[in-house]
Order: sequence, then structure tokens, then C-alpha cells
Amino acid sequence: MSISIFGTGSMATGLAVLFAKANHRVTLASRDVAKARSVAADLGNGIGASSFADAAATADVVVLAVPYDAVAEVIKAAGGLAGKTVIDITNPMTADFSGLTIGHTNSAAEEIQKLAPEAKVVKAFNTVFASVLQAGGNAGGRPATVFVAGDDAAARKAVADLAQSVGFAPVETGVLSSARYLEPVAGLNIALAYGLGRGTDIAPAWQGVA
Ligand SMILES: NC(=O)c1ccc[n+]([C@@H]2O[C@H](COP(=O)([O-])OP(=O)(O)OC[C@H]3O[C@@H](n4cnc5c(N)ncnc54)[C@H](OP(=O)(O)O)[C@@H]3O)[C@@H](O)[C@H]2O)c1
Repeated sequence: MSISIFGTGSMATGLAVLFAKANHRVTLASRDVAKARSVAADLGNGIGASSFADAAATADVVVLAVPYDAVAEVIKAAGGLAGKTVIDITNPMTADFSGLTIGHTNSAAEEIQKLAPEAKVVKAFNTVFASVLQAGGNAGGRPATVFVAGDDAAARKAVADLAQSVGFAPVETGVLSSARYLEPVAGLNIALAYGLGRGTDIAPAWQGVA
């Protein structure tokens, strides 16, 4: 699978290495292509680097690993992402991480679907800390759960399979609007990790759901 990851930060690099090690063709994309090239070279594993537009053109799957507030800008720079499966990992947190900026009747994922109406947007990986990616998808010594939401059942299944292929335990949560529940779960994860001092070697799961 050809996977382009928008961003060069902790989530982008963690996912890039996991996907590349599972033999996917991975490209990192940035507003600063020289930075993307430098980060990709440091990561090795055959990871490439490109602009948003060039990376989107060659991708089956695009991962949005930028802050939620930057998503509109990068989708525009990428040319709209029509026809692509777009994995939204964002959490629309306030600057001090004390709450969400949208929710209840809406979600970042649904807003992103509006920004890229011809893309198949799938929410995933938003409840997984970057440190869990660096630990090979493990939290507390067990595969971390990746909750997967999306309106396109085939795209949702493909993202669940992708997560499983790199060592996670996927749980499909149904339509994209179930991201209204998943984004607050990430907020709780952050509160536990930082506010309550449990650290980031944690990840939420759902008992009784395979
Ligand atoms: N960190 C976690 O544990 C975690 C867990 C789950 C979900 N998430 C979500 O994952 C996403 C990425 O988080 P992160 O921790 O990887 O962030 P990060 O390390 O701060 O990296 C952010 C990336 O976004 C790029 N970026 C920022 N503003 C941009 C803009 N206006 N236009 C284009 N690119 C822009 C940055 O590029 P430059 O270098 O050019 O600034 C950088 O490559 C966020 O939405 C976050 O909510 C994070």
C-alpha cells in the first residue's frame, strides 16, 4: 500500500516507521520539503519525502498527522484529496489540553470530511500516544487498541486491517460520527497520562469487543 503521511512530528514519524517496517511504501510530506527529506533520511527504512500535493498524488492512503487547526490548509495544499482514504488522527484539543474545541454534535473527523468531501475519511489512531507507536504499538506490554470510525465500510475495514498489520488491536466503531465519542476518549487518555501522572505507556481499550 502507498501511504503518505502529512507531518514530520512525533505521530508522523512513529507511524511512518511502523508502516515502512510492514513493507508499505511510505512518504512524509511537509510544508517544508527540505525538512521532510531530512526527517525521512534520519528515519531510514526506505521512507520518502515530498510536498503535500506530490505525496497525495501517489498515495492510496493519506494520514493527517498535523494539528487539527492546520488541516484545512494542508488539504487545500494537497489539492482536495478526492478519492483518497484519509486517516484522521487529530484531536481538537484546547491549547492547554484541558478540553476539546468541538464536540457533542460534531467532531474533527466530520469537519475534515466536509473539507474533503470526495475523500473517504476514517478516524483512527487518535487514542494512541506517539510513545506507544515508538514502542511498536504496545502499551503496558500489550497491543494497543486502535478505534476505527468511517462512513465507507471498505475504507474503514482497510484501515482496521492496516492497524492490525502493524501490531495494533483494531476495534471498528461504525460511522464517522462515532468520532464524537472517540475524540473525548483521547482527551481522557491525555488527562490520565499528564494530569493524573500515569504516563504515556497507556492506551484505552474496550473489554469484550474483539
Ligand atoms: N502526540 C501524540 O501522542 C498524539 C496522539 C494522538 C493524536 N495526536 C494528534 O496527531 C496530530 C500530530 O500530533 P504530533 O504530536 O505529531 O504533533 P507535532 O509533533 O507537533 O508535529 C506536528 C506536525 O504538523 C506540522 N504542522 C503544524 N502546523 C502546520 C501548518 N499550519 N501547515 C502544515 N503543517 C503544519 C508540523 O510541521 P512543521 O515542522 O513545519 O511545523 C509538524 O510536522 C495532532 O493532530 C494531534 O492531536 C497526537
